[in-house]
Amino acid sequence: MSGRGRSPVCVGVEIAGSGSSLPARRVTNGDLVAMMDTSDEWIVQRTGIRERRIYDREKEGTADLAADAARKAIADAGLLPTDIDLVVVGTMTPDSPTPSVACVVADRIGAGKVGAFDVNGACCGFVFAINTAHDLINGGAYRNVVVAGADTITRFCDFSTAGRNVAVLFGDAAAAVVLRVSSDTSRGLLAQAMHSDGGGAKNLFVPGRKQDFPSNVEYDPKRINQIYMDGQAVFKFAVGTFSKLIEQTLERSGLKADEVDHYVCHQSNYRILDSARERFGLSPERLHVNIDRYGNTVGASVPLVFDELRKSGRVQPGQKVMFLAFGAGLTWGSSLWQL
Ligand code: UT7
Repeated sequence: MSGRGRSPVCVGVEIAGSGSSLPARRVTNGDLVAMMDTSDEWIVQRTGIRERRIYDREKEGTADLAADAARKAIADAGLLPTDIDLVVVGTMTPDSPTPSVACVVADRIGAGKVGAFDVNGACCGFVFAINTAHDLINGGAYRNVVVAGADTITRFCDFSTAGRNVAVLFGDAAAAVVLRVSSDTSRGLLAQAMHSDGGGAKNLFVPGRKQDFPSNVEYDPKRINQIYMDGQAVFKFAVGTFSKLIEQTLERSGLKADEVDHYVCHQSNYRILDSARERFGLSPERLHVNIDRYGNTVGASVPLVFDELRKSGRVQPGQKVMFLAFGAGLTWGSSLWQL
């Protein structure tokens, strides 16, 4: 029986599998130069991004990418879709307000009538979702949970010169992990943190109506349903937040920075990641960067890095991994695992 009762025993939780899904269309900085006034040099120097994937709106959506990533993660874990008893998707770009992406994924993968819901934490969606799912397993109610991060954010980007400060940053993707109950109680979350500051929303938001424009941003009907970002304000927030978040998570776990094997970070700007590396003396092997190939993929960003590390054999059982993200909301959060 799963998803119905609480087990009296304390259980461990392991990350048993991972998978990712990328749209086929690869858009280089050179391709963007043909759409807007920008340059490869500007984008690489300011962000570290060289190319990104952009989904085909006519043929695919967030749920398609998420279902593909979930199927791969389940196979990687050596499980069957019918073993899954809960699906949680971190996303801020569901294909429609309802059904949730998670409901579509659960059905598509053939998991049956299992629990399924989305978590909207913007770029923190996956981190918030994995923290939630961990505790649902740890509490004894679920055994095998798919946790995905999936976003098709480019539909909210303006690929003309007017939107160049935002459009060059983003890409579309999905990635997923399977969490599985383990008899080894040392495995699972060592510490976590989840934060928000709605007062900072004015620096990064998608207006749906005239009323959604804060007083510091002039109303422009052409900007409805497009990302507004004060890049420098978000940059400052991100650099400060990253350091404090790492410190807070280490303090909660009682670990030192060099006792964590991998810092799996949200990829939003190479310079932001570099400042965290410098601050904590982390080698490139311990803070992996793949923004050059995918840009900022919002909720998919963190599990995409994890899947890459796992597939290349760099992440191994017994290691400690800290997932870290920050984003619109504003939101920021961490999840420190004993694998
Ligand atoms: O997960 C979401 C979180 N978001 C982020 O983490 C983003 C954080 N912010 C950033 O990464 C940086 O602020 C950006 C990469 C967005 C911008 O870099 P910046 O060094 O802060 O540049 P800026 O906004 O100060 O703009 C500098 C110049 C401006 O021109 P002027 O006013 O100096 O003449 C911009 O108009 O660069 C211009 N510019 C561009 N030029 C070429 C802005 N976007 C572009 C572009 N290509 N795409």
